[in-house]
Amino acid sequence: MYSTLLVQIENGTYTITINRPDKLNALNKTVINELSAAIDEVYTNPDIKSAIITGAGPKAFVAGADISEFLELNAGQGEELARHGQKNVFDKIENCAKPIIAAVNGFALGGGCELALSCHFIYASENAKFGQPEVNLGLIPGYGGTQRLTQLIGRNRSMELIMTGNMLTAKEAMEYGMVNKVTNAEDLLSKTKETLQLIQSKAPVAVAKVIECINRFDHTQQGYDFEIKKFGECFATEDMKEGASAFLEKRKANFKGK
Ligand code: COA
Repeated sequence: MYSTLLVQIENGTYTITINRPDKLNALNKTVINELSAAIDEVYTNPDIKSAIITGAGPKAFVAGADISEFLELNAGQGEELARHGQKNVFDKIENCAKPIIAAVNGFALGGGCELALSCHFIYASENAKFGQPEVNLGLIPGYGGTQRLTQLIGRNRSMELIMTGNMLTAKEAMEYGMVNKVTNAEDLLSKTKETLQLIQSKAPVAVAKVIECINRFDHTQQGYDFEIKKFGECFATEDMKEGASAFLEKRKANFKGK
């Protein structure tokens, strides 16, 4: 179905594997368009409850945007490349109502690091490396790196990482707060799936509202007001009635996602 992705649904989890290992899974136009279609599938297919994004081969998650497509672009086309990817892949992942976890199995550089950052959280294997090396190419991050990375690790660390182009090991990325869990390479997918099974056992509408509220994180009153509104909306769901009744009746809740 896809020429650059492998996809598989197992126990409600859709695993999307970017499959150009000979090019370290670099994001060319086809990968971006196919990722966009695969994320649409996560949005619309009721059999899909959650998703994982990972890379094929032992070496790379994604080593960035495909540099071989850069030389012929002018300023307008460069802007369009970034806008198209942001809108159709990165923002769509971030705003998906179903949880999407990055399972980073090697190099996550440039657009690869940004792809992981757009997921709801990140698990990584011990050999993973994170970085934004665009300055080596006379570029800056274009898929949200200056924004999402800064929000996640803070201004000064983000400044240093993006201005130096240095790479972080998985352990360092965890210390920075980018990565939630580091596993050995063989266990990465199973640990990621285990966490998604746990999330899938919770009320789906509530999980979707958690994603929405956290994405709207805001120090001002607006963030609190948004949370208050979403909290109220939960009381109109069947899942809230089921969850509260199940607790009071000392039984396991059976959520319907309604
Ligand atoms: N775009 C296009 N091709 C890429 C790529 C990218 N971002 N990253 C790696 N590749 C290709 C290489 O050109 C090479 O192709 P070839 O075998 O046809 O020559 C292949 O993937 C393997 O990469 P190679 O550089 O030989 O592996 P390495 O182990 O020596 O180095 C990296 C690994 C990740 C350090 C190195 O590939 C690299 O620096 N990649 C670019 C990272 C980057 O700048 N990303 C941001 C882009 S905006």
